Amino acid sequence: MSAYTLKSANGMEARVLDYGGIVVSVRVPDRHGRFDDVVLGYDSLADYLRSSPYFGAIIGRYGNRIAGGRFTLDGKTYTLAKNNGPNHLHGGLKGFDKVVWDAAPFQGADSVGLVFRYTSPDGEEGYPGTVRATVTYTLTDRNELIFDYHATTDRATLVNLTQHSYFNLAGDGKGDILGHVVTLNADRFTPVDSTLIPTGEIRSVSGTPFDFRTPTAIGARIDQDDEQLRYGRGYDHNFVLNKGADGGPTLAARVYEPSSGRLMEIYTTEPGLQFYSGNFLDGTLRGKHGVVYRHRYGFAMETQHFPDSPNKPSFPSTTLRPGEQYRSRTIYKFAVQP
Ligand code: BGC
Repeated sequence: MSAYTLKSANGMEARVLDYGGIVVSVRVPDRHGRFDDVVLGYDSLADYLRSSPYFGAIIGRYGNRIAGGRFTLDGKTYTLAKNNGPNHLHGGLKGFDKVVWDAAPFQGADSVGLVFRYTSPDGEEGYPGTVRATVTYTLTDRNELIFDYHATTDRATLVNLTQHSYFNLAGDGKGDILGHVVTLNADRFTPVDSTLIPTGEIRSVSGTPFDFRTPTAIGARIDQDDEQLRYGRGYDHNFVLNKGADGGPTLAARVYEPSSGRLMEIYTTEPGLQFYSGNFLDGTLRGKHGVVYRHRYGFAMETQHFPDSPNKPSFPSTTLRPGEQYRSRTIYKFAVQP
């Protein structure tokens, strides 16, 4: 297994493994030009192999949950691993986060990157069809980290790929993320049941702790007495992104960390964003340089199709058929604000 370092002309740097396509570190400047690592992770591959809550990894074949580990496609029912209570999560026992990807580095005019390829055999983790997946990581001189996903199949199947980096824009291990100020370009979200499966309702965020349409600290309402926050133990919900007409990447989220001045913007072609506030981090994992990951020491913003789409006919489809191309693009853009 190999590690790769991507470095942009102005010093932004990302370290990436071919195992799981894991983004181990991302170093970006603060408002004084000081670089810090802003993602959670481990020092060694052995730590990732032992136990990881998907730190920095590519998620597939299906990012997020599938209710009861079951879905029906073209009249046939498929059974998947129940690896998250009664449900299937993030592709199963050995998803795309736990395979070694074939990696090919490239150098562009104003960018550097890696092309990751993996062929998932027919029946892997219970999913039908041979899926050929390509995920391209590009680091640009504009301080963007871009993920381009592509997949094909030889039988009808499900594909919903995402990236599971946990961020702390103050710096990895430097406390909880409750002071980060989040703006989400979402008028609606998908409420869940107590096992975090969407009920099927698309609910307005208006008047709820899920209204991030104006900049709001993650911690401002996270402990309110709200059924959805109770089910998620905080934020662990899919937001329905407001979309333009052209299908290109649109702004999904903006996250600002006041002490460092770091700003991260997320653009995506996907219809949804899982905002997870690190509620299951509980101080049992030790990350890079031995830091202890306590409650809410990182947050994830997973661009995706909605959870449990295969069992929710009214949600945008995650079915991929032979002859079709799965394509998805997400951009993490880093900047600073005074
Ligand atoms: C899920 C969380 C889960 C986390 C790590 C997120 O995508 O929404 O519920 O705990 O991944 O497994």
